[in-house]
Amino acid sequence: IKKIGVMTSGGDSPGMNPAIRSVVRTCAYHNIECVGIYRGYQGLIEGDFKYLDARSVNNIINKGGTILKSARSQEFRTKEGRQKAYDNAVKEGIDALVVIGGDGSFTGAMIFSDEFGVSVMGIPGTIDNDIHGTDSTLGYDTALNTVVEAIDKIRDTASSHNRLFFVEVMGRDVGHIALNAGVGAGAEEILIPEENLGKDRLIESLRRSRQSGKSSSIVVVAEGDKTGSNVFDLKNYVEENLPEYEVRVSVLGHMQRGGSPSCWDRVLASRMGVKAVESLMEGKTNYMVGIKENKMSLCPIDKAVKGKTEIDMELLRVSDIMTT
Ligand code: F6P
Repeated sequence: IKKIGVMTSGGDSPGMNPAIRSVVRTCAYHNIECVGIYRGYQGLIEGDFKYLDARSVNNIINKGGTILKSARSQEFRTKEGRQKAYDNAVKEGIDALVVIGGDGSFTGAMIFSDEFGVSVMGIPGTIDNDIHGTDSTLGYDTALNTVVEAIDKIRDTASSHNRLFFVEVMGRDVGHIALNAGVGAGAEEILIPEENLGKDRLIESLRRSRQSGKSSSIVVVAEGDKTGSNVFDLKNYVEENLPEYEVRVSVLGHMQRGGSPSCWDRVLASRMGVKAVESLMEGKTNYMVGIKENKMSLCPIDKAVKGKTEIDMELLRVSDIMTT
């Protein structure tokens, strides 16, 4: 391998910059040229490249977002778009691609590799932690800390005004952020797509909580949860059925995707970048780098895309016990 292209694709996440830095520096260490591809697959289609040496990634380990920018390219979904991307990769002399992103980005990498035989290696970068083959994705830990910090602040108002807060968090179709941040922030209830509590049990639980002497509560709701049609529907339902509650809603939104990466995400990104480049050097392709039982591992990229991630049901039980 002489030249590796690196890109970030899909939703950004804290940890992408440390991962870019790691890929670039591992390439420099092994005397491989590294080309940064801007705006994900769209930049590959448009030939938006920049040569990256070890010094070009100074001072980014602590930065959120991605210096390479990110995009969800519609054109890359077409055969013509992918042909343009391939022609540019050949013109630039790129032998292999490191794609930092989520399952949509990996699906693109897989199709591209099948069609044109390009070597690809994925690094999981998403706050959602919804990728099979790794215990943790880049940005997930930072997002958890951001959510917990935000809920700690909301708790001040909840407690001062004896209010109930519904806090909606991201996570797309899975409840990892909600469940872990919910336990970390001491939420009264955690509503996740994997286990539908049902509106009536929610009401029962909140009633019991009041009776047990609690005057304020936090309910964390995953954006993919289906207990109500949305978080405001839940608010209305509680107000109708438990008039003693004063209810507010807080949707945390994109602040969960930003900010300086946590130490865990920086270390994980550094490890994943080294593993990705060195695996390509060993001739491996069509894998995603992951962390399993604190060891770097490789998962076939199709399994990473299609496999399910499982929610830790024991953690739900822990949450129930903690709200006694
Ligand atoms: O995948 C990351 C994520 O932030 C999800 O949690 C959320 O559902 C989605 O992206 C939001 O996407 P967008 O930034 O395009 O609105």
